[in-house]
Amino acid sequence: MSDRETWTSRVGFILAAVGSAVGLGNIWSFPFQTASNGGAAFLVVYLCAVFLLGFPVMLGEFVIGRRSERNAVEAFRSLGFGEWSVVGGLAVVSSFVTLAFYSVVGGWVLSYIVGSVTGGYLGDAGAYFGAVSAGPIAVGAHAAFMALTIGIVALGVTDGIERATKLMVPAIFVLMGGLAVWVSTFEGAAAGYAYYLSPDVGVIADNIAGIVPPAVGQAFFTLSLGFGVMIAYSSYLGRDDSLPADGSAIVVVNTLVALIAGFVVFPVLFAIEGSVPDSGGAGTAFTALAGAFSQIPGGQLIGLGFFVVLLFAALSSSISLLEVPTAFVADRTGYDRTATAVGLGAFVALAGVPTALDTGILGWYNDIVFELLLPLAVLSLSLFVGWVADDQLAVELNLGSSFGSGFSTVWLWWIRIVIPVAIGGTLLLGIQSLLV
Ligand code: PHE
Ligand code: NA
Repeated sequence: MSDRETWTSRVGFILAAVGSAVGLGNIWSFPFQTASNGGAAFLVVYLCAVFLLGFPVMLGEFVIGRRSERNAVEAFRSLGFGEWSVVGGLAVVSSFVTLAFYSVVGGWVLSYIVGSVTGGYLGDAGAYFGAVSAGPIAVGAHAAFMALTIGIVALGVTDGIERATKLMVPAIFVLMGGLAVWVSTFEGAAAGYAYYLSPDVGVIADNIAGIVPPAVGQAFFTLSLGFGVMIAYSSYLGRDDSLPADGSAIVVVNTLVALIAGFVVFPVLFAIEGSVPDSGGAGTAFTALAGAFSQIPGGQLIGLGFFVVLLFAALSSSISLLEVPTAFVADRTGYDRTATAVGLGAFVALAGVPTALDTGILGWYNDIVFELLLPLAVLSLSLFVGWVADDQLAVELNLGSSFGSGFSTVWLWWIRIVIPVAIGGTLLLGIQSLLV
């Protein structure tokens, strides 16, 4: 496959992977999940899950992708383990289901950008959410968001994905950072910081089953793991790149964006509403924030900045979700990329229509991904890397890496034992909390 594209630079790869990681998960769900799961206590568990579970699994996807130079499904066959292609197939299915509802939320973001310009959500924030999250408006906005996604993916890896993320990722940082500084001047911001940053260990001990499963699920989702995205992206990577170094950079940057989002959201909520909303429904982020924006001077402008950041974050993630099936079909059949991206994107857009019409169905898609597809995919990936693939993968981790072979040995045993035990335990806790 000598005509396969590659990233034009290492930074291009890191930005694209960061673009995939940084998304609605960081800015839309993370602060509100933190709020509905015990505040700072959730944050502590989440951070442990990101670094202790997410980082090693990310390296697992990287070695599969770079070793095989194939998409998520064909990677397994190319490494000599064709039966495991089913894991890649699971990843493709997860990407489809996730993109179907992710794009609906992306459509809401488009409507909130419009609302920030027209002032549509000033006054009655709840009514505005009701209007844009139902009927033809929701379907139309979803279709518009999918069209943007398809357009970027159709342009290809370097001209589309790499160029778009080089623009969007730095913009996310600048705008979010600026917003965080601005809201720090609000009276009452301090109460928000206190809620966000003082963990109450007792809360964790009392509610392990309620905190750990969502924190672990969020950790994998936020790093785009279990969807084959990191397999696909690292397959365009050169051998002289250090996977552990790139992986660390991606994990740290993704974590920073989530943390900064908290530094925007919590001060705003405490300064204006005096508390955080305790139910974390799909619309909470939109109604709570738009409600707050409509009460502060300059709120429309803050709102515009915030929702534009959210759009960039959502788009740089949705393109990675569409890239997984597109790379698979285009590599496999030799079809033209543009036609493939358009065809598959149209199919996903249709699959998303029910979730655009009913936020209950959206929650249902979301739960299937978080509670079933994601843990299953990550578990089977780890078992594959740790126990099935031979030592070619640990060897791959050392190529271009300055972390030394001791690192890859620890990593391999970590993937073999710690990850499966942790995910198994999380699944059990999740089942237990469903039964109680
Ligand atoms: N990581 C993205 C986010 O946090 C979501 C995502 C998951 C993107 C899986 C691609 C693949 O929003
Ligand atoms: Na993320």
